[in-house]
Amino acid sequence: MSSLEDRLLFAIPKKGRLYETCTKMLEKIGLKFNRKPRHDLAVVSNMPVLLVFLPASDIPTYVAEGSVDMGITGLDFVSENRVEDKVNQILELGFGQCRLQVAVPRVKTLQATAEEVIASLIGGRVVTSFPWLTRKYFAELEKTTPEEISTKIVYVSGSVEAACGLGLADGIVDLVDTGETLEAVGLVPVGTLLSTQAMLISNQSSKRSDLIEVLKLRIQGVINASK
Ligand code: PRP
Ligand code: MG
Repeated sequence: MSSLEDRLLFAIPKKGRLYETCTKMLEKIGLKFNRKPRHDLAVVSNMPVLLVFLPASDIPTYVAEGSVDMGITGLDFVSENRVEDKVNQILELGFGQCRLQVAVPRVKTLQATAEEVIASLIGGRVVTSFPWLTRKYFAELEKTTPEEISTKIVYVSGSVEAACGLGLADGIVDLVDTGETLEAVGLVPVGTLLSTQAMLISNQSSKRSDLIEVLKLRIQGVINASK
């Protein structure tokens, strides 16, 4: 079997909402591998592929730069990293569907429309793990450029929903799936920035386009079989 350098590098989310479904999908397409606990690399024994387990939010950048040949991540992270045109978006994977939404404390929604609530956030503080998409969204609302908005966008890496309760934010922008996380902390979604799901992406000048195509067709087969 090929040396490590000759292998196609395939980035997979190392944990989080996409992890379980991703690893099951890799097994279904026939990749044989054994990821040891805490290890971020796994050699595939029956194909010239090396799996690299990385944070889903970083995968679009690695794929765009060509440090890895292909990867699975969310469309949300592709957009947040501003590489929509720098990677090949090969396939929507039909899992990991959720929405990136603006949410505020329920009390703000009792006597105002969603539109009024969103407008009331202009000039306030909004906490998110998606600063670029949030900035772009407020730029449209404020009819200005992303650089010149008056709304303060504050980045946190996780547990975004805690920000309003802690007095850090007037509103948040976060991913919403079932809505249980928002509900649990008394927040209500009032607007949607984008709908997202898991995607297969590849580098635009990878030397392994033959193997990328093989893996894409196998994944497509698994998706079609489950429909
Ligand atoms: C995600 C997201 C929301 C939650 C949405 O968080 O940031 O908090 O899932 O899912 P729900 O609508 O079904 O409740 P995650 O669990 O990935 O953790 P993190 O934000 O702390 O990284
Ligand atoms: Mg969360």
